[in-house]
Amino acid sequence: MKVLVVGSGGREHALVWKIKQSPRVTELLAAPGNAGIASIARCVEVSSDDIKGLFDLARSEKVDLTVVGPEAPLTAGLVDKFEEARMRIFGPRSNAAELEGSKVFCKSLLRKHAIPTAGFRVVTSADAAADYLRSVAFPVVIKADGLAAGKGVSICNTYEDAVYVASGMLEKKIFGSAGDKIVIEDHLVGEEASVLACVDGRNLLVLEAAQDHKRALDGDKGPNTGGMGAYSPVPALSEADMKRVIAEILVPTVHAMRKEDRTYKGVLYAGIMLTRQGPKVLEFNVRFGDPETQPIIMRLKSDIIPLLEATIDGKLEACELEWDRRAAVCVVLASGGYPGKYEKGKQILGLTEVAASSNVAVFHAGTTRSGDKTVTSGGRVLGVTGLGQTIAAARDEVYKAVSMISFDGMHYRKDIAVKAMK
Ligand code: AMP
Ligand code: GLY
Repeated sequence: MKVLVVGSGGREHALVWKIKQSPRVTELLAAPGNAGIASIARCVEVSSDDIKGLFDLARSEKVDLTVVGPEAPLTAGLVDKFEEARMRIFGPRSNAAELEGSKVFCKSLLRKHAIPTAGFRVVTSADAAADYLRSVAFPVVIKADGLAAGKGVSICNTYEDAVYVASGMLEKKIFGSAGDKIVIEDHLVGEEASVLACVDGRNLLVLEAAQDHKRALDGDKGPNTGGMGAYSPVPALSEADMKRVIAEILVPTVHAMRKEDRTYKGVLYAGIMLTRQGPKVLEFNVRFGDPETQPIIMRLKSDIIPLLEATIDGKLEACELEWDRRAAVCVVLASGGYPGKYEKGKQILGLTEVAASSNVAVFHAGTTRSGDKTVTSGGRVLGVTGLGQTIAAARDEVYKAVSMISFDGMHYRKDIAVKAMK
């Protein structure tokens, strides 16, 4: 079987790494990939949002299965185009990808189907926002409707702060048309967890949970990022919580999507807040999380290909997964300045030395080859991921590996998964 993975991040490197281990796979392509992916798959220079380019590539290469990493090609209709041509692809169609592509759609669906989430109001003008904000309790959370590369969410502590953020989105258009509408929602308090499930349109198969660390600095301080590290399993999410997440959130959402004629296939990623009233939806993503996928994939013992195929074919009911009981931790090494401005082209040292440790995998994100060197090419550069008998042991493995790697300006959080040891 010939497989194509779309994307160039750490999530995609982890997927390629796992797919490569399947005895069913004979050839593996990535578009566009990165330096790490290039060491185990053939990378083709087609951007992950070039729908026509990806379609032409899959057709001319006679790819048997395409797996999509990021959200942009999903909301732009990559899966629709493949399915119309009867080409096999893993991911939701564009009308189902709206769950991530539009927060207004997502929140309205949740409200309509009584699925637990924070109370909210949709507004489309700065005046309406200012009016509504006079009636709310602070802090309040303001979200741009459309995709904003993970930067579209602000937690505002005061009325003035909130009015400023709302008018930035609605009037100054800091996120372009993604901010034509905004969601103003109640602030929830609790532990967060990412619960990912494969969904085949009707059935769902839940993967092991993970927890992300969205803030740039230790102690959950600093600006939001795409994710600075993750771990799995999540001790804060009890078995009883997980049952509630499935029964009260995931199953009703899959049913709701069918009822709305937006049948959902692919990975459904629920960002959950475990509140005192029970689990509530913070957001949905329509794809594997990054960096959550790195520790989750490292713990998956089963071949991933049957899982991807059962999802596409509506056969998840018959699918079972075997998990490594050990814990996995992923620490992201980022470029100096990330998530703000950063320089590229810094040589990365220590990769060969780390490759010798058997419990650690270094998943590349923003990396590229320059002559015989591996250099940085993005904000999040590497996701050092390791297994251990406990979270603490996995942390030790990972931070030992991290200490062998260096590049100019490198920064990372020292407290990934510390929360899970309490
Ligand atoms: P989102 O992209 O919607 O998940 O938001 C990004 C982050 O903002 C989440 O991971 C939470 O940490 C935080 N957040 C989003 N919505 C809320 C909310 N209603 N209450 C508290 N924190 C939130
Ligand atoms: N780590 C959060 C995300 O993938 O959106």
